[in-house]
Amino acid sequence: MPCRHNRAFARSGFCSRDKGINSMSYILEPMTEKHRKPVIDIFNYYIETNFAFPETKVDYDFFDHFLDMSKGYPALVAKAESGDAVGFALLHQYSWANSFKRSALITYFILPQHTRKGLGKMMLDKLIAQARSMGVDHLLANISSDNERSLQFHRKHGFHECGRFQEVGRRFGKSFDVVWMIRRI
Ligand SMILES: CC(C)(COP(=O)(O)OP(=O)(O)OC[C@H]1O[C@@H](n2cnc3c(N)ncnc32)[C@H](O)[C@@H]1OP(=O)(O)O)[C@@H](O)C(=O)NCCC(=O)NCCS
Repeated sequence: MPCRHNRAFARSGFCSRDKGINSMSYILEPMTEKHRKPVIDIFNYYIETNFAFPETKVDYDFFDHFLDMSKGYPALVAKAESGDAVGFALLHQYSWANSFKRSALITYFILPQHTRKGLGKMMLDKLIAQARSMGVDHLLANISSDNERSLQFHRKHGFHECGRFQEVGRRFGKSFDVVWMIRRI
């Protein structure tokens, strides 16, 4: 959606004031090496607060894993008006077998000050457009049963639960399910 409030964001960005939500504007750019530190810092924030799957923080080398897993798929970083990276989102392979190339997995993490402002939807919409152009027609998300906000986000944006692996995860001494959600795009 074009921003009428900040010319720098007018062409490629998104302004949540246009939705009447608040005064934040964001732009999305492809994830590259320059995002190594902010992406890992955001991911580690969610590891520490129990919303990402790993139990312990990762080091900056882990960024190579994000680049690797999203090879051939779109990966985005969201920047706020300040120029700081405040979130990232990517698609990745569901299966190594090419008979599943119509399906992709989605992942996103947004710093808490920037959640519930439409940025998750903005990144989802952009990834959907890019996925469609590569022939992907199903998006899958695997979400911890503890992560009610992500489950709600996906339900709100057209995903439905299609499977649940009960108690396959254990973090900080507590078992959790992995909830699989799917959206046809
Ligand atoms: C999940 C996430 C990507 C959603 O992005 P977002 O920018 O917050 O979402 P949007 O503003 O586009 O959409 C808002 C909707 O998401 C859901 N949602 C987002 N934050 C929520 C919260 N704290 N509590 C409940 N629902 C929430 C609601 O359905 C909400 O709609 P509503 O405000 O009308 O109730 C983001 O909150 C996030 O990064 N969370 C932490 C990390 C994470 O869980 N990542 C996903 C791992 S599978």
